[in-house]
This record gives sequence, structure tokens and C-alpha cells, in this order.
Amino acid sequence: MTYFVTMLRKAVLILLGVLVIAQSIRPARTEEPLDPAADLIALTKPSAEVEHLLRVACYDCHSGQPRYPWYMNITPVNWWMQGHINESREHFDVSAWGRVSGEKRAHWAEEAVEMVGEEEMPLPSYTWTHGDARLTEEQRLLLTNYFSALMR
Ligand code: HEC
Repeated sequence: MTYFVTMLRKAVLILLGVLVIAQSIRPARTEEPLDPAADLIALTKPSAEVEHLLRVACYDCHSGQPRYPWYMNITPVNWWMQGHINESREHFDVSAWGRVSGEKRAHWAEEAVEMVGEEEMPLPSYTWTHGDARLTEEQRLLLTNYFSALMR
């Protein structure tokens, strides 16, 4: 029994040591200055309500201006979150809206209608911690209408 307790104590200490050391290993962040010539909101000038929804429900992952929360300083949470940001911008980058082809924009808009309509976006892991990103039916409709108009 005492042997088990000693081993457990050692295991906990080693784990804590690893976590402390891991704090110095942080992912590269991807904040960049807003480029009004490429930003989705700057270029499409949506209504104030749609703009608000885009900012609170999409921009933290899909733009170059994420609002990093304090826990973004904690390894390994930060790796998981930065991974989401990098992956999401590969699929849909609101900060590159003005830099891609019209065809690509239409494709992104179509995907966005689907993702928001089918409640796949914003990601559930995000809405747990961001109450204002939990969209009502009405808000989903506002967003899908907005993106539908951008498909043309
Ligand atoms: C927590 C981060 C996060 C938030 C918030 C978020 N997304 Fe995403 N999004 C992702 C990730 C990760 C992917 C890529 C993987 C996938 O498709 O699940 C993605 C993919 C997408 C795609 C591409 C789908 C495809 O298959 O090509 C679109 C379009 C999209 N998101 C739209 C949105 C819209 C619109 C919002 C806001 C209403 C939003 N997302 C909010 C993380 C997020």
C-alpha cells in the first residue's frame, strides 16, 4: 500500500514537471493586421447584426484577428486551439476573401450556408465556452441568407 502511494506521488510529480516544462513550448500565433482590401466584413458590408454574428461566432477561428483567451497561454490547450485556427483558415479564410478568385468565394459561401444551416459551425467545442456564439434559429437564418447572397 505505501509502495503504491509512493509510486503515485512520483507519477504526479513527474507529470507536473512535464507540464511546467511544456509551458515554454508554445505554438506560433497567427494574429495579423486587418487588411481592409481582403477582409470579408470590410468588403461585403453586412448589416450590423450579421457583422456582430460573424465576429462573435466565426472570426476567432477563421480570421487573422482571433481574440485569444487567457487559456491560450496554457500548453497543451494552446496547441489544440491554434490547430483549430490553422485548419479552419485552410478551409475558409475570411481575411483572404478579397485575395481569392470569385469562384473560390462562391464555393466558400456555399460551404458556409451548409455549415451554418446544418449546425456544424460554429464548432460545439467553441460554443461551450462562448455563449454569445450559440446561434438561435433566427440568427442562423440571417447568416445563411447573407452567405447565400454571396454565392452569386
Ligand atoms: C472553434 C473554431 C471555429 C469556429 C468558431 C467556426 N469554425 Fe468553421 N471551421 C473550423 C474548422 C476546424 C474547420 C475545418 C474542419 C471542418 O470542416 O470541420 C472549419 C471549416 C469551415 C468551413 C469549410 C467547410 C468545408 O468543408 O470546406 C466553413 C465554410 C466554415 N467553417 C464556416 C464557418 C462559419 C460561417 C462560422 C461562424 C458561424 C464558423 N465556421 C465558425 C473551426 C471553426
